[in-house]
Amino acid sequence: MSERKLDGRVAIVTGAAGGLGAESARVLAMHGASVAITDIDLDGAREVAAEIESGGGRAFAVQADVSSEGDVAAMVAAVVDRFGRVDVLYSNAAILSVEQRQRDRDVANMDVEAWDRAMAVNLRGAMLCAKYAIREMLKQKKGSLIFATSGLGAQGDLSLSAYAASKAALMMLSKSIATQYGKEGIRSNALQIGLAPAENAHGSMPPAVIQILRDNHLTPDVGSPRQIADVVAFLASDESSFVTGTTLVADGGFSCHTPSLVAMKALFAQTGAKGM
Ligand SMILES: NC(=O)c1ccc[n+]([C@@H]2O[C@H](COP(=O)([O-])OP(=O)(O)OC[C@H]3O[C@@H](n4cnc5c(N)ncnc54)[C@H](O)[C@@H]3O)[C@@H](O)[C@H]2O)c1
Repeated sequence: MSERKLDGRVAIVTGAAGGLGAESARVLAMHGASVAITDIDLDGAREVAAEIESGGGRAFAVQADVSSEGDVAAMVAAVVDRFGRVDVLYSNAAILSVEQRQRDRDVANMDVEAWDRAMAVNLRGAMLCAKYAIREMLKQKKGSLIFATSGLGAQGDLSLSAYAASKAALMMLSKSIATQYGKEGIRSNALQIGLAPAENAHGSMPPAVIQILRDNHLTPDVGSPRQIADVVAFLASDESSFVTGTTLVADGGFSCHTPSLVAMKALFAQTGAKGM
């Protein structure tokens, strides 16, 4: 993969104070982009921006609650004031706090406030950031929008119903944008992310759970933030200039195989039969 494929570009990464957003911001900066590190957590955003700057990159932190139209409009204005333009929006922010996860359950037990919060941050937030970023991109007739989605937006699960619905809707929002602004040089894609926990998140998942998930990957292991960030950089750059309106799946093959694969493998191992 070529280095510095984003020289001269300006990227906004939302939810970039930690996790996958911070790693994506680092990789976009490594490829030469000036990066706005946006988050509701200003201290965290400042730390990431300072780290990028101390490594020779260009970054600045700007606080915004993406669910607030006023915050988002001010954030994009601050980015334009600082860096002059907007070329890339990586809409990565999502509400994933422990409290939110505990309330966003199966539908019969759904906490309606948690539902509304998920929609406000994950979906309305992404739309608002797109609304203001597209207005800037139209000025130069070029831009790339990327929406962080999840396997849970494409496959059913036992809990996190609001999160899942918000991620599924983002895939459609991305297609609407691709359709509406494609002729004006603006591309839009969803990135369906598989399990790619930040190092500090591994500890919060029981090893038995990680093992079940690992067994369902076709790759040797679950993903890493860097593997996701590399795909973000691809979608942000001209290397993906013919890719728009799609959902790119980066999940180590987790969602592509038959649901019975792991159980079949176990059965073959038990009986000594050769399944493949
Ligand atoms: N990590 C994974 O394995 C994984 C898997 C599938 C999808 N994803 C997606 O990737 C993205 C990042 O996930 P992560 O694991 O790094 O999560 P994370 O919780 O570590 O990061 C989310 C960031 O969003 C910020 N945020 C929350 N509410 C906000 C608001 N209202 N305004 C602005 N910022 C806000 C948080 O402060 C945090 O920095 C999410 O969209 C998530 O759905 C992650």
